[in-house]
Amino acid sequence: MAQYEKHEYDVLVIGAGGAGLRAAIEASAEGVSVGLVCKSLLGKAHTVMAEGGIAAALANVDERDGWKVHFADTMRGGQYLNNWRMAELHAKEAPDRVRELEAWGALFDRTVDGRILQRNFGGHQFPRLAHVGDRTGLEMIRTLQDHGIHQGVDVHMECTVVALTKDEGRVSGAFGYEREKGRFKMFSAKAIVLATGGVGRAFKITSNSWEYTGDGHVLAYHAGADLIDMEFVQFHPTGMVWPSSVRGILVTEGVRGEGGILTNSEGRRFMFDDIPELYRSQTADNEEEGWRYTQGDRNARRPPELLTRDHVARCIVREVQEGRGSPHGGVFLDIAWIQEKMANSAAHIRRKLPSMYHQFKELAGIDITAEPMEVGPTTHYAMGGVRVDPDSQMTCVPGLFAAGECGAGLHGANRLGGNSLSDLLVFGKRAGEYAARFVKENGAVVLDEGQIEAISNWALKPLESQTGDSNDNPYQIQYGLQEMMQELVGIARSEEGLNDALSNIANLRHRSENVIAIGNREYNAGWHTALDLHNLMTCAEAIALAALERKASIGAHSRDDYPDKEEPNTKKYNTIVRKGADGEMQILREEIPEVRTDLQEIIEEIG
Ligand code: FUM
Repeated sequence: MAQYEKHEYDVLVIGAGGAGLRAAIEASAEGVSVGLVCKSLLGKAHTVMAEGGIAAALANVDERDGWKVHFADTMRGGQYLNNWRMAELHAKEAPDRVRELEAWGALFDRTVDGRILQRNFGGHQFPRLAHVGDRTGLEMIRTLQDHGIHQGVDVHMECTVVALTKDEGRVSGAFGYEREKGRFKMFSAKAIVLATGGVGRAFKITSNSWEYTGDGHVLAYHAGADLIDMEFVQFHPTGMVWPSSVRGILVTEGVRGEGGILTNSEGRRFMFDDIPELYRSQTADNEEEGWRYTQGDRNARRPPELLTRDHVARCIVREVQEGRGSPHGGVFLDIAWIQEKMANSAAHIRRKLPSMYHQFKELAGIDITAEPMEVGPTTHYAMGGVRVDPDSQMTCVPGLFAAGECGAGLHGANRLGGNSLSDLLVFGKRAGEYAARFVKENGAVVLDEGQIEAISNWALKPLESQTGDSNDNPYQIQYGLQEMMQELVGIARSEEGLNDALSNIANLRHRSENVIAIGNREYNAGWHTALDLHNLMTCAEAIALAALERKASIGAHSRDDYPDKEEPNTKKYNTIVRKGADGEMQILREEIPEVRTDLQEIIEEIG
């Protein structure tokens, strides 16, 4: 019999970043019992990597902004593959979620007349990002955490969920282990909200820390939910490239929002070379106009550095590949140049971008107020994820919800910077509310000891054979996967490379199934990595399969062999990844429903 500690809740939230915390707060406010499980310590979440701000059409800096413009910008940025209902809800509700966060204690930067200050970001027509210097995600987590712990939410830190159980088709619980002692925990729950974030650790260069192994994606997939648009992985244009030990750490888009420019080894602002048709009318074609825009000139057009992330990342790769990169394989990001334009620029930069100042000073010995940074793309965010109902966030599995990065639909083929924090709040709240409602409308669940026993046996397998014939260790397999995904499923993809990737994944999966973790259950990071491999392999396969299916280059998905944005005679579609009856991964296409007429009119008028 499996040995485990048992906990029972109405709603269990898995993941304690912005979406998980917001869901837990809402469910608890609805009067149901709530458990919150986090893989790491409370407060340590990828949410903090959304540094530059939270997008919400508050119209504090430019009164021309409003939910309609935010909606149109989000749809255009996502290349119209977004779930339009989610984009509508997001744009309409984000301002209230920001004001609520402020009421709960978040200290935003202010305008001169005392309102929440908003800054420019890529793809947003107006200054829209409410921010706290370059530490916005951190402030958001701090606020939600402070608020949440007074709501009576039970927190289980350093606990990794490895599988869900079901009761006659409905989700009934989650099984996990404690990192410290390796003891098992079984959570019985009438509803579960997955808020586990993304899958950046499937790639070598990433802004994601060790926790982000696609856990929620895979828990949902095995429980019978669909994954959609997994091919769309966001490569944030600016991560650190040097020193190599810190490669991939995020350099906030806020640097460009504050006027930072990208230059190549010839000193040229290469972003002027390639302005996409969709953005031509909004983008400045000279340096002076771009600068005036960042200084609030309402008649000026945006600098090309504030084009969408997918495009900026590809331009950087082009410069490097064509031999115009920086010494360590990136390009230059220069905020120091504003000293030509502004008195006291050094103090200004330190005030607006304090974390970036310290990050470069301490990690690279660079003073960003006086010299340029070296930057290059870093895997940052998964637009693809668990398919949910746009209003309730419930998956097709009764009682199973998903929100935040592990849920999908809002961002389409490319997410606009700052839309992640607002996504977490808007849909975290909705997931918590609807999960509580589900609990009230449905009866108790029954746990099945047979399912629990099978999960427990599976989880202990890497520890069982300490002397198998395999020389593999989990880290080698993980590293092999990351290298391969970076090379074959990264920014530039092709049929040959993707097929190659799929056979590599099959091979790595086979090795991971037989991998051995030396030692016992206590403090055993090798064992944890062996279990994480299962999720990484499944997500990697889903990404490669969906990338092979989409024979076009659109948003964050770029195929060397299919450079056009659309496939001939094909309507817009989502890719769907589903677990087949035989246990094999299936890939399907599903046409995107026509946009509602009133929303289509907004797109035509604004976007
Ligand atoms: O660049 C950034 O500050 C990241 C923001 C985001 O991913 O939304």
